[in-house]
Amino acid sequence: MRSFYASVASNTLGVGVGLRSPHVARILKDLPSLDWFELLADNHIVAGGWARQQAIEIAQHYPVTMHCVGMSIGSCDPINFDYLKKVKQLAVEVQTRLLSDHLCWTTWNSQNSHDLLPLPFTEEALAHVVDRIVRIQDYLGSRIAIENVSSYLTYKHSTIEEVEFVNSVAQQADCLILFDINNLYVNHVNNGQQTYRYLNNIDITRVAELHLAGFENKEQYVLDAHNDTVHDNVWALYEYFLRRKIDVPTLIEWDHNIPEFEVLYAEAMKACQIKQQLLREREPVYAVS
Ligand SMILES: [Fe+2]
Repeated sequence: MRSFYASVASNTLGVGVGLRSPHVARILKDLPSLDWFELLADNHIVAGGWARQQAIEIAQHYPVTMHCVGMSIGSCDPINFDYLKKVKQLAVEVQTRLLSDHLCWTTWNSQNSHDLLPLPFTEEALAHVVDRIVRIQDYLGSRIAIENVSSYLTYKHSTIEEVEFVNSVAQQADCLILFDINNLYVNHVNNGQQTYRYLNNIDITRVAELHLAGFENKEQYVLDAHNDTVHDNVWALYEYFLRRKIDVPTLIEWDHNIPEFEVLYAEAMKACQIKQQLLREREPVYAVS
């Protein structure tokens, strides 16, 4: 499928951060050196008003991507085309470089859980999700990226390994993957997910963006709270992935206990430094005679 968001898959976007309203005035005043911002689309989806205006003004200065939480891709409810219509309008208005949502379900019987609920990894769920993504992409007129979610349980009747499920969805629906490396680590701690096996097997040809975020240690489990700096173990997994594919945009997410912009910016610079270090290692060393 043709994609008018195709430029995100190239090396034009380096490291960005999620746009959060407490930072907007500061960003528009100082125009900090960042490659792009990710808009949490649902915050800006209503036409008119200050939140929409913020998105438009940021898009006048920076490339933006759009991240949705409302498609409920895995649900058995009908696809919400009213919601998709608003998403499409915003996408055109801000000229988004990528449009993404989660490989999960959020609604049941028109009730919204306001949570990203995990899917069972079965052939039945695979066919169901692929069919819905194809129809969503047909309506939007472009590919979307689907994100692996964090979870606190697994289903006994899953028959497919998660990474295989994600790859199959992307290949069969011809969509892209938004690979959240923090979610992978959270699932490793909570559910025993094998991190390096996942990193080695994910279909890098379809990974169009990476997410990094902080989690909260609850002793019995870790909560994907997006309220802290990125954990050292997640940075290590990030570096490992970049050795497989480096020309992929990286996004720092921070949604709760939002810090001063400088803290978020420092996290983005850390991601830049890791990328730059790996690129330097790839440069050929010439002997001087
Ligand atoms: Fe994420």
